[in-house]
Amino acid sequence: MILVTGGAGYIGSHLVLELLKRGYKVSVFDNLSTGHIETVNKLKETGKKNFEFIKGDLNNKNEINAAFSKEINGVIHFAASALVYESTVNPAKYYENNFCGTLNLLNSMRENNVSKIVFSSTAATYGEPIKIPIDENHPQNPINPYGKSKLMIEKMMDDYDMAYGIKSVRLRYFNVVGADSKFRTGEWHDMETHIVPNILKSLFVKNQTFKIFGTDYDTKDGTCVRDYVNVEDLAQAHILAFEYLQKGGKTDFFNIGTNEGNTVREIFEYCSMITGKKIPFEIAPRRKGDPARLVADNKKAKEILKWTPKKTLKESIQTAYEWEKQLNLQKN
Ligand code: UFG
Repeated sequence: MILVTGGAGYIGSHLVLELLKRGYKVSVFDNLSTGHIETVNKLKETGKKNFEFIKGDLNNKNEINAAFSKEINGVIHFAASALVYESTVNPAKYYENNFCGTLNLLNSMRENNVSKIVFSSTAATYGEPIKIPIDENHPQNPINPYGKSKLMIEKMMDDYDMAYGIKSVRLRYFNVVGADSKFRTGEWHDMETHIVPNILKSLFVKNQTFKIFGTDYDTKDGTCVRDYVNVEDLAQAHILAFEYLQKGGKTDFFNIGTNEGNTVREIFEYCSMITGKKIPFEIAPRRKGDPARLVADNKKAKEILKWTPKKTLKESIQTAYEWEKQLNLQKN
């Protein structure tokens, strides 16, 4: 059985569905601070006897320790606070939830003799890029507490391998988009900051206008370039990473992105085209802390994990749109 922390969240829930599809037994540990009970119910409906849910917090040592039943033989760890801006005004939350939470998790793994973990790291550990595309040897100089907290965890994991033999794979994601092809889950943040759901919400939420943050970057159309990876493709990367560890793979880290960049304007145009709707937008000043370009070099994940992104950006936006429609129907 695999313990999935943060399995009620956006990326975690997609991974749980994929694990269940492959016949794995899954235990989700989540405090539901940003994840949703509706998502847990969907996972339960899909997984039936192969699924269990534990409501608990990584900052509570007893709760996380109790989650390690005898059956757990590996961990996939998503639970974290993940808003870049929030981390700059409330760093305590990030070091506590991300770093201290993971410290408790790793210590519970030690106590319970569980030695394999796949960890959701981020492109934010690289900071302002000095070259594009970014490969795994790019210096890691994060520029916000979110990225710093994730980098501290990566370093802690190296030490826990050397001293205690806990093997880890750190997946450094770029920008994640899309929803489950059967629409059982999708991106659902109560405080939404991400580009695609924000564009789509402008179609459903009264008086919401999509803001393009900055049109004066040194890029082909003046807006920021990002590497958008599909959430189901990302779930596959976690499965491959877990299997890699099961086969005796060493502690390692991989970029998970597509090697392709798209500008904010391009994403907006794609959304307009796919929805066939005129989406309200306005030009706004740059958002603090946004690098002009972030594009992954994913060669290492392709070579070692045998991972390749399969879904197109069009598919990602289509599924995100269907999911957003469903979400707004539920609310109204
Ligand atoms: N953007 C807008 N308007 C919006 C939202 C976003 O113009 O309403 C722009 C941003 O300025 C940025 C791009 O769209 O240029 C992507 O922004 P997101 O907020 O969707 O994603 P980020 O690139 O800021 O952050 C993502 C993850 C982080 C991770 C980071 C890695 O959400 O968790 O990639 O660099 F740390």
